[in-house]
Amino acid sequence: MKYRTMGKLGVQASAFGLGCMRFNGAASGDSVIDEGKAISLIRRAIDGGVTYIDTAYVYLDKTSETVLGKALRDGYREKVTIATKMPKEYVHNRGEMEALLESELQKLQTNYIDFYLMHGINRQKWEEFKAIGAPEFFDDMKKAGKIRYKCFSFHGPYEDFEYILNDWDWDMVQIQYNFMDIDHQAGTRGLELAGRKGIPVVIMEGLLGGRLAKAPANVQALYDAFPVRRTPVEWAFRWLCNHPEVSVVLSGCNEAEQIDENLRIFDTVDANIMDEKELALMDDVRAAYLSRTRIGCTACRYCMPCPNGVNIPGVFSVWNNVSLYETDPNENFQFKRILEQNAGADRCVQCGACEAACPQHLPIIDSLQEAWRELNA
Ligand SMILES: NC(=O)c1ccc[n+]([C@@H]2O[C@H](COP(=O)([O-])OP(=O)(O)OC[C@H]3O[C@@H](n4cnc5c(N)ncnc54)[C@H](OP(=O)(O)O)[C@@H]3O)[C@@H](O)[C@H]2O)c1
Ligand code: SF4
Ligand code: SF4
Repeated sequence: MKYRTMGKLGVQASAFGLGCMRFNGAASGDSVIDEGKAISLIRRAIDGGVTYIDTAYVYLDKTSETVLGKALRDGYREKVTIATKMPKEYVHNRGEMEALLESELQKLQTNYIDFYLMHGINRQKWEEFKAIGAPEFFDDMKKAGKIRYKCFSFHGPYEDFEYILNDWDWDMVQIQYNFMDIDHQAGTRGLELAGRKGIPVVIMEGLLGGRLAKAPANVQALYDAFPVRRTPVEWAFRWLCNHPEVSVVLSGCNEAEQIDENLRIFDTVDANIMDEKELALMDDVRAAYLSRTRIGCTACRYCMPCPNGVNIPGVFSVWNNVSLYETDPNENFQFKRILEQNAGADRCVQCGACEAACPQHLPIIDSLQEAWRELNA
């Protein structure tokens, strides 16, 4: 495992940080997480050298922090730093912020949180956080030793990012970034701005929620033609870690094999190791993906549940996969399941709740209709 210094904080962190947003459900269907499996995955990552773990109050129906707390018993807490988050939707005053933080500490079974983030903010949410005194609260909690660093995770346009970053003395920032998102959200400009200010950057969605792990034929042909053989996941993480401003790359893993593969990859990556030919390859790969992607949904599920039962990320995933991998929707397992569960886009009543929640600002309503027309054609 390679370790990196987190900007001005000077803290050492593993380049691979484990994200706790995507653990699989229990096979019995009576729980949102297969708890035993999640705990063993978390410990496997830590045993392999991971020192940075990311979760949030809302992940996995609010069970993610609880499972992480259990995984960090037996001496594991001392081996890692924990990042978790405060969602604006759940706090409207100081009392609610205090109660929310206390409940997170309890669930995590710890006395302090290392990195405490205002969750998924844009400029509007930052203003809302300021209006309820969140910056003062974070400062007070830092003084009290309940949090070590005051941070935010970001979803929004670059202009918002620049404004927020310059508006307070943040200790760390978490952004969505990968070789497809260079001009999207904070993008490369945001990464470099944080780097110039010495603010450590933690990366989320480094594989675009898993989409970059499975190369479609036109992308795989490019990888295959390159003289050095690497997996798509390895190319994606190598490209991220090539940026010296990146401190930690988060990845959510569902299987032990994914943890092991990522541990192997993060043993080999470093800043400024890619030559011009490798960088040109990634430009070609980006163009090849863009030529076939129907919608930039990252399957983060912030829009779910839809009050009318539409499986929004499911429909978009099928739409993208059918286009990327040139397959027949009628042979797509996920599409069949959506039809069986009556969770298709035909149930949408255009209430707009999903669009307000989408960190990618996708035109979900229109896109669902277009996707449904094409998939059923
Ligand atoms: N603060 C925020 O607003 C926010 C938003 C999004 C994410 N996050 C955090 O950032 C973390 C990372 O984001 P992410 O989960 O989207 O990361 P990601 O790395 O883009 O996607 C994770 C998915 O990639 C696939 N994967 C990972 N390693 C793999 C490997 N070696 N081989 C093949 N597939 C692999 C898995 O997909 P399959 O499930 O298909 O196997 C996994 O679920 C999250 O877990 C969460 O903690 C925060
Ligand atoms: S607009 Fe449609 S898909 Fe979105 S939440 Fe409302 S009913 Fe569901
Ligand atoms: S539509 Fe938006 S909020 Fe919903 S899963 Fe996709 S990216 Fe996330």
